[in-house]
Amino acid sequence: MNEIIKKASLTHELSKHEITELLKDQQYNKELFEAADRIRQKYVGDKIHLRALIEFSNICRQNCFYCGIRAANKNIERYRLSSEEIILLANNAVKSGYKTVVLQSAEDTYYTADMLAGIIQNIKKNDVAITLSIGERSYEEYKILKEAGADRFLLRIETTDKELYKKLHPNMDFENRIRCLRDLKKLGYETGTGCLVGLPGQTIDSLANDILFFKKLDADMIGLGPLIPHKETPLKDIKADGFWLSLKVLAITRLLMPNINMPATTAMETIQPQGRILALQAGANVVMPNVTDELHKNKYEIYPGKKSLNYTKLEEQFKKIGRTIA
Ligand code: 5AD
Repeated sequence: MNEIIKKASLTHELSKHEITELLKDQQYNKELFEAADRIRQKYVGDKIHLRALIEFSNICRQNCFYCGIRAANKNIERYRLSSEEIILLANNAVKSGYKTVVLQSAEDTYYTADMLAGIIQNIKKNDVAITLSIGERSYEEYKILKEAGADRFLLRIETTDKELYKKLHPNMDFENRIRCLRDLKKLGYETGTGCLVGLPGQTIDSLANDILFFKKLDADMIGLGPLIPHKETPLKDIKADGFWLSLKVLAITRLLMPNINMPATTAMETIQPQGRILALQAGANVVMPNVTDELHKNKYEIYPGKKSLNYTKLEEQFKKIGRTIA
């Protein structure tokens, strides 16, 4: 196991077999996490990048089996922020010092590309990077958004296991999701993807494929985390035990993709006390504080207990582990 970790640290390449060996092993987790932490430090440094997350609509046309804001969930109050509200939240984030805002929503086609382009142009009057996380759209729409000034895009593949993908995403098409990711790359977006860990029927083999997919896509950002069951979804009875495995997927991804940006995701800190710190010490270098207004952020319940912590003490927390805010 130490040989595999060493090889990954030096060459940033592993075979699928080596990745599955690492994922299966239970004895060398500490070595794996420490190696990922060293590679993170060597390639992207000790600074933690903050991204201001704005969740602007929870109205969704999709029905992903794991997600609390899926269309079929009737026990949820739906909301949409207006262009003005979104711009105000973004401008406030810029005033607080954020250099990136992430505009995230459910798959809500109420927001046309032209409407979003207007919002983007407005926010771009500030010196700030814009990341979009709004789901699947056409090449033409992604192009309009890019030309309006969007810099980055997050679209998780969720799982590269095609059969599993099909089961969990009714009326969605794996090939279209791949098409989206290719289009985003082609258009010059810094492109992020990622996966869920702990899906029913997901194997170690398929997680290894996920990691190899990230590398093959040459993703610029990877976000991943454990599945947290939501009671209003078909996966309500699934065990939420994916934390350590997702930490390992994170660490291996860092070893193989030393330069990318990886958040300590909210799911990781929701499911495990200290989850955020553990992720930051196993390869992660980004944190995404939620700056959505209090009235709406609790309604963006993709999973229960979603943490929206008080972020005022972040700097102190980071200092304790030898890190600073970028
Ligand atoms: N538990 C954990 N993560 C989830 N996501 C959606 N539903 C859940 C859940 N129940 C993740 C998906 C999506 C991201 C925004 O949140 O991976 O891409």
